[in-house]
Formats: sequence, C-alpha cells, structure tokens
Amino acid sequence: MNTLFIIFLLLLCFFFLLKSEDITRAQEDNYATEEEKEVKGFDENTLFSPYTKQEWRSYQHKKINEGRKTRLKIMITYPNKTAVTGAKLYIKQLTSDFHWGCGMTHRILNNSAYKKWFASKFTAADFHNELKWYYTEPTQGQENYTDPDAMLKFADEHGIIVRGHTVLWDDVKYQQKWVRKLSPEKLLQAANKRVDSVVTRYKGRLVGWDVMNENLHHNFFEKRLGKNASAYFYNRVHNIDPDTTLYMNEFNTTEHVNDEWAPPEKYLRRLKKIQAYPGNSGMKMGIGLECHYGAEPIDLHYVRNSLTLLSQAGLPIWLTELDVKIDPTLENKAQLQVIYLEEILRESFCHAAVKAIVIWTGASIDGCDVMCMTNEKLENTPVGDLIDRLMEEWKTGNIEVVSDSKGISRVSVFNGRYEVTVVDPVTDVSSSVTFKVDKVSIPDGNVHLQVLG
Ligand SMILES: *[C@@H]1O[C@H](CO)[C@@H](O)[C@H](O)[C@H]1NC(C)=O
Ligand SMILES: *[C@@H]1O[C@H](CO)[C@@H](O)[C@H](O)[C@H]1NC(C)=O
Ligand SMILES: *[C@@H]1O[C@H](CO)[C@@H](O)[C@H](O)[C@H]1NC(C)=O
Ligand SMILES: *[C@@H]1O[C@H](CO)[C@@H](O)[C@H](O)[C@H]1NC(C)=O
Ligand SMILES: *[C@@H]1O[C@H](CO)[C@@H](O)[C@H](O)[C@H]1NC(C)=O
Repeated sequence: MNTLFIIFLLLLCFFFLLKSEDITRAQEDNYATEEEKEVKGFDENTLFSPYTKQEWRSYQHKKINEGRKTRLKIMITYPNKTAVTGAKLYIKQLTSDFHWGCGMTHRILNNSAYKKWFASKFTAADFHNELKWYYTEPTQGQENYTDPDAMLKFADEHGIIVRGHTVLWDDVKYQQKWVRKLSPEKLLQAANKRVDSVVTRYKGRLVGWDVMNENLHHNFFEKRLGKNASAYFYNRVHNIDPDTTLYMNEFNTTEHVNDEWAPPEKYLRRLKKIQAYPGNSGMKMGIGLECHYGAEPIDLHYVRNSLTLLSQAGLPIWLTELDVKIDPTLENKAQLQVIYLEEILRESFCHAAVKAIVIWTGASIDGCDVMCMTNEKLENTPVGDLIDRLMEEWKTGNIEVVSDSKGISRVSVFNGRYEVTVVDPVTDVSSSVTFKVDKVSIPDGNVHLQVLG
C-alpha cells in the first residue's frame, strides 16, 4: 500500500449556524400549572399538553443534533492541495460516547446465552445486589466477593463499564441485622472497614461509585454518626480511589412532582454540601437518577425541567435503574408501558449531560417484577422491541459518501470513535484512519484528509 494517509483538523473558517432561539421556549417554561398537569387520559393530543407531540419531538431532535451529534465537513485533497473528486468514503462508528446499560445479577454467571445477549447490547452495567454490603458481608467478619469478582471479570472481558452499586445505603431496611445492632462507635468502625474493603478491592476498575445510596430519602448513617456522615464517607472513598467518579443515587428526583425529599433543587443542595466537606473540593462527582417511573402518564415538563436544572451542575448524569411500572387493571397496559417508556427515553436522551441510560432489568432470568426487555428465552418483550429500535436510531449506521467536485463530503454523526476509509478514485487504493468525533476533538466539524495519489 503506497498511499499515505494523513489526518489533521482545520481549525478555521466555518461557522455552523447553531441556532438556539427555539430552545428557550421550553427552558423558560417553568413547571406546568396544576391545570396543565391534570391528565385527561390517553389521547395523543392532550397527554403532553400544552405542546403537541410534534413540538416535543422537534425540540428533542434539535437538542440531539446540538448535544449528541457533530456535522462533519470532510475534505479530501492530494498533497498539492488539489481536491480529490469522486473519492468514496466509508464511515463506520466504532464506539458511542453515550452508553446503554443494564442491571444484571449473579444468575448471568452460569448462563452463556444470557451473557451473549447482554454483551451484544450493552456497554455499561450495574449489579442489582452483588456489590451491596449485605451481600458481601452478610455475617460480620465473613466477606465473600466471589460473585461480584466473577461478574466484573465477565464485564471486563466484553468491554462493559460497571458502576459500583453501592458502597453504603442509607436505608435502615437494607442493613444487615448485625449492623443495626451496633453502637455508633462500632458502626463507624464496621462501616470504615466496609468502605476500605470494597473500594480497595475494585479501585480503578469501575466507572463510578454510588457511595451513599438514597441519602435524600434516608438517613440511617446520619442518625447514628452525625449529619456529616455521607460527606465523610465520600471523602473516605475519594481518598482510596481518587480517579473514580462518586455518585449520589436517588429515586423520585425526576419521577414524581410531589416527592418532598428528593426534588432536583434538594439533590443539588445535598451535592454541594458533600463537595463543601473538608477534603472533597477536588472530588469528581456525578448525578445518579434511579428513574423508577410509575404506571401513569409522564409529566414531561417536570422531567425536562428537572434534567435541565440538574445539567447545570456540569456533572455527568446517569439514569441508573430505569423502569416503568405496569397497571394490571388496564386492558392496554403493555402498550401504555411502552408509550410512557419511549417518552422518558426520548426526553432523557436529548439532554447531553445524560451520559448513560441503564435499564434496571433486561432478561427476565433476573426476575421481572416491574419491566423486562425479554422473557426467559431471551425473546423480546414489546419493551425490548422499543429499546432495540431506539438503539438503532441513536447510532450512526454505516455511511457511504462520495466527495464532490471540491473534494468535500458532509455527514452528521453521533459522537464517538470513527473509522473512515477513503478509496482513491484514480488508483483505487483504500486507506483507513480512526479518530474521535465530538465538539471538543473537532469543534468546527472540519476534517481534512490527505491522500498521496
Ligand atoms: C444456573 O444455576 C442455577 C442454580 O443452580 C440453575 O437453576 C440454572 O438452571 C442454571 N442455569 C443454567 C443456564 O445452567
Ligand atoms: C461465597 O459465595 C459463593 C457464591 O455465592 C458461594 O458459592 C460460596 O460458598 C461462598 N463462600 C463462603 C465461604 O461462604
Ligand atoms: C415517590 O413520590 C410519590 C409522590 O410523592 C410517592 O407517591 C411515592 O411513594 C414515592 N416513591 C417511593 C418509592 O417512595
Ligand atoms: C460538619 O461539617 C461542617 C463543615 O466542614 C463542620 O463545620 C461541622 O462542624 C461538621 N459537623 C459535624 C457534626 O461533624
Ligand atoms: C496534484 O496531485 C494529483 C495526484 O498526484 C495529480 O493528479 C494532480 O494533477 C495534481 N494537481 C496539480 C494542480 O498539480
């Protein structure tokens, strides 16, 4: 292959017309009035009022184009700067900056079909229970990491990133009997030992830690150890594993307008308190939203405003346990579940701060109490069909283009890593280059590829 292929980026000239005027309509729109929130039953025209479905969609589309995609202007020239006309370009997405994830349990370990299914769809995972304290140390002093070790090994082998869920959990209901009985002094000792044990074991191998699960709704540790307990444990985890992002993880922040414990404003206040604790200022933090939605129409205004507000913190947001309940009394229950889920997925995906969406249950091998993507035979449910459809929609398919008389090809692609193969129209020699596409790597979208003919 005598064709040399060089890539560099032209950092000048082109302004893309990034318009923003239409977005403001929805951003300025504060929480819907009570009247607007009143649900009139399922009807395409009233469910998402006061906007039409088209208006919701066009805003989402615009935000996706701005936040998740990059318009590339690829120019192909010879070294003497002559444009190469009629060069074929094959554009292939290698990875996506956005992650689809799924919860999994130890039941995956002896099930090769489930493993194959999981690895073919997801690039991120949460373990349902296997990393929790009650799972790894059910009896004091007897730790057992057999299952999480094996699950993490499986994930590593398939390039699946894993969240550490969860170091501690603030809900009294989920403490081992022996933990509940400890005096404050002994509890602090035991909790410190737990933190040190699990965080040291998996240090540097996880994409994030839920440090104190659900500390807006619950306060087991604060009640016994003082009001700074959460902040203290974030600090302790940070000191052991400083490069890993530390998350809060909470339910009912976007799900319910009426939850007084965990609305976005309170979430952010708590986050700032944790950051303000001595030693925590440089800590990498993230926002975990469980997203357990009920079997009722989604208040999209609330979801949009909540995600917009949370995005302003400038931190990664992960939807960590997404599911939508089903109302068994309704005849069209399965259809409604899919409709509500699609609205949540579309609205969440259009917020670029949302870095990943983790579906709580994939295969019903793990039990299917709320929402599953498949049955026991790993055949899709309607929910599985919807997710497959959106996975397709939110990735760049293989693209073939031909450079024009100025040597230029224009394509709009989802952010991620790409391989571009160019075929020289004269010599028919092809060469490939891989590069990252996003607003930081290629701010103006201009890519200049040189072909030595
Ligand atoms: C995995 O192990 C469980 C428990 O021993 C068993 O019930 C199940 O059938 C096994 N699954 C497979 C696919 O071997
Ligand atoms: C540790 O956990 C594994 C998997 O659940 C189990 O098979 C094993 O017996 C446990 N070991 C001990 C010492 O309890
Ligand atoms: C979430 O908030 C709603 C509204 O306040 C409440 O009915 C529901 O029980 C909450 N969910 C949980 C799991 O507490
Ligand atoms: C909690 O942290 C704050 C800020 O560092 C500090 O002023 C306060 O004394 C701490 N309170 C307790 C009970 O440790
Ligand atoms: C530039 O180089 C190409 C390939 O070597 C050649 O075909 C073309 O004629 C050259 N153009 C000029 C203006 O020299």
